[in-house]
Amino acid sequence: MSDFNAVAFRQHFPFFVNQPAWVYLDNAATTHKPKAVLEATDHFYRTQNSNVHRGAHQLSQVATTLYEDARLAVKNYLNAADVAEIIFTSGTTAALNQLAFGLMHTVLKPGDRIVISALEHHANIVSWQLHCQRFGVIIDVIPLNADLQIDLDAYQKLLALSPKVVSLTQVSNTLGTILPLENMLREAKAAGAITVVDGAQGIAWQRPDVQQLAADFYCFSAHKLYGPTGIGVLYGKKALLEQLTPLQGGGEMIESVSFAGSHFNKLPARLEAGTPNIAGAIGLAAAIAFLSQFDAEQLKSYKRLLLKTFHDGLQQIPGIVLLSKLENNAGILTLNVAGEHPADLASLLNEQQIAVRAGLHCTMPLFELLEQPGAVRFAFAPYNLISEVEQCLTALAQAVEILAA
Ligand SMILES: Cc1ncc(COP(=O)(O)O)c(C=O)c1O
Repeated sequence: MSDFNAVAFRQHFPFFVNQPAWVYLDNAATTHKPKAVLEATDHFYRTQNSNVHRGAHQLSQVATTLYEDARLAVKNYLNAADVAEIIFTSGTTAALNQLAFGLMHTVLKPGDRIVISALEHHANIVSWQLHCQRFGVIIDVIPLNADLQIDLDAYQKLLALSPKVVSLTQVSNTLGTILPLENMLREAKAAGAITVVDGAQGIAWQRPDVQQLAADFYCFSAHKLYGPTGIGVLYGKKALLEQLTPLQGGGEMIESVSFAGSHFNKLPARLEAGTPNIAGAIGLAAAIAFLSQFDAEQLKSYKRLLLKTFHDGLQQIPGIVLLSKLENNAGILTLNVAGEHPADLASLLNEQQIAVRAGLHCTMPLFELLEQPGAVRFAFAPYNLISEVEQCLTALAQAVEILAA
């Protein structure tokens, strides 16, 4: 049993007061926001609203302090070595695109190789592909073994080709699989690669220690960690961030501009063009402060309990084709009903106000490997209750009966 008090945790989230009928199991897509986050962003707009780094007035100085304090909060949360290593972006996708663009224009040369895995989200595939042809860079993909885990022997063979970059998701957004990143990144560093972690899902599972993780870069989105949408982070080792060509120009990323050319600002401003999402950064800092009140291990073991309760219940429902494994899973179970389209199942659950996601989950190449037309994803968060899991199992059993009729 878990000591974690999910009812008390849930009370921090106004969504569940306003929408008591909904069972929300679409947490891998986005999480709900605690009061602390809503109040922090609301308070900023109501009483402190101003642009950062620019105004001579006091309001702007307050906004700047709040924005830079948020950067410090993220730095501490990730255990980064320096605040200048925290770049605010609009999310994981923006972070990965900046990274791919920046590395392609400076560090990578024709014939260089990038290793990704078969579990990657499109954001960690397409952001590299956009430039590969032009720059002559090759992408290698680590396959999965029969257990749908990363094939570590195949990974060793790809490392033997001396890739310049190894870019991996921490947790599969489709299957929930947790990758053995500690070893994989250490081995990638030993092979001389720059290491990149797509932490979009991993951030909600485990607080990352980027120094211990041997991650040169770590990207995540606040909205999957109880923070606002439209704000995310590109963490990078300072020396490497300094080598990235900025993807966007303008605003504070400039030190001097003439029509002959421009000089860029120091980090982190160098990679933050235009007016940033100030309220978003403040909201992210509030999410981090909120989450830090809870025991991370308790949150994890409660999520495991939700997952196991759901998994055990599924064994009683005929016709379920489970794609995810229970082991090494960060709280996501993906399944199909044999012979039925995933959208039909999701639609029947929606009628019962159970929010799940159906489709390809931005992992088309993975579904090609799985030879499935898509799947329905159930993604748990610590505010979900065991009674909701039971409600979902009952609804699922009824839906299977309706589909079979
Ligand atoms: C593993 C993974 N990477 C990247 C992303 C993209 O995140 P965002 O849409 O917040 O930029 C997601 C979103 O679902 C994801 O799950």
